[in-house]
Amino acid sequence: MKYHKLTENAVKPTGFWGRLMIRSMNKGHQNITDWALSYFDVQNGNIVLDIGCGGGRTVNKLCTAVGSGKVYGVDYSELCVKKSLELNRKNVLCRKAVIEQASVSELPFEDNTFDKIIAVETYYFWPDKLNDLKEVLRVLKRGGQLMLVFEMLFDEQDPDKWTAVEKRLDIQAVREEDIQNMLRDAGFINIETYTKEGTSWLCAVGEKEVL
Ligand SMILES: C[S@@+](CC[C@H](N)C(=O)[O-])C[C@H]1O[C@@H](n2cnc3c(N)ncnc32)[C@H](O)[C@@H]1O
Repeated sequence: MKYHKLTENAVKPTGFWGRLMIRSMNKGHQNITDWALSYFDVQNGNIVLDIGCGGGRTVNKLCTAVGSGKVYGVDYSELCVKKSLELNRKNVLCRKAVIEQASVSELPFEDNTFDKIIAVETYYFWPDKLNDLKEVLRVLKRGGQLMLVFEMLFDEQDPDKWTAVEKRLDIQAVREEDIQNMLRDAGFINIETYTKEGTSWLCAVGEKEVL
């Protein structure tokens, strides 16, 4: 029962269980996020966006990576925005980090704003994946990159591995090929995917074409 209350709050954290979930995500997603970021060339001066920023741990990490740059975080959960603001208080105060409540489907940014965009363990919940990816592409600079990170990769050898959580949260584990196709259909180019042996982790990187 407690476990169910906790997992249900991965979708849009609220209240007591949401706070516990945020704490657990900040801790539990550290390793996969650090692994994925090793494939993402975040540079000094970059303007970066974290979509579905949860408790703000990735925003915090990116603030170090961008040096003189700037990091934005968005999440549609009011509680996540509050917790991300708390965790990144110093960087928010000096305007190096900006955290806003927003849905991926309607990002409150101009076209061609970001050098890099990351989305960790959130894509499963996006309501209209193809159009949401097109919305992400819109705010990415030409030549900029999006990274999607997943810990629920479908396993051919163990097809029921994720069934319980899929049913409970009404989501689906991802297949590498489907993610590649989706990114391509949304207009991304130079798509690369990475997996880590012994885990069910996947990260995918796509680029916005330079005209
Ligand atoms: C499993 S949590 C991951 C949080 C964080 N990225 C991390 O790795 O710890 C999923 C997050 O995505 C957010 N989210 C889900 N759907 C969203 C949407 N349509 N737009 C913005 N955020 C969304 C949730 O509120 C939640 O904070």
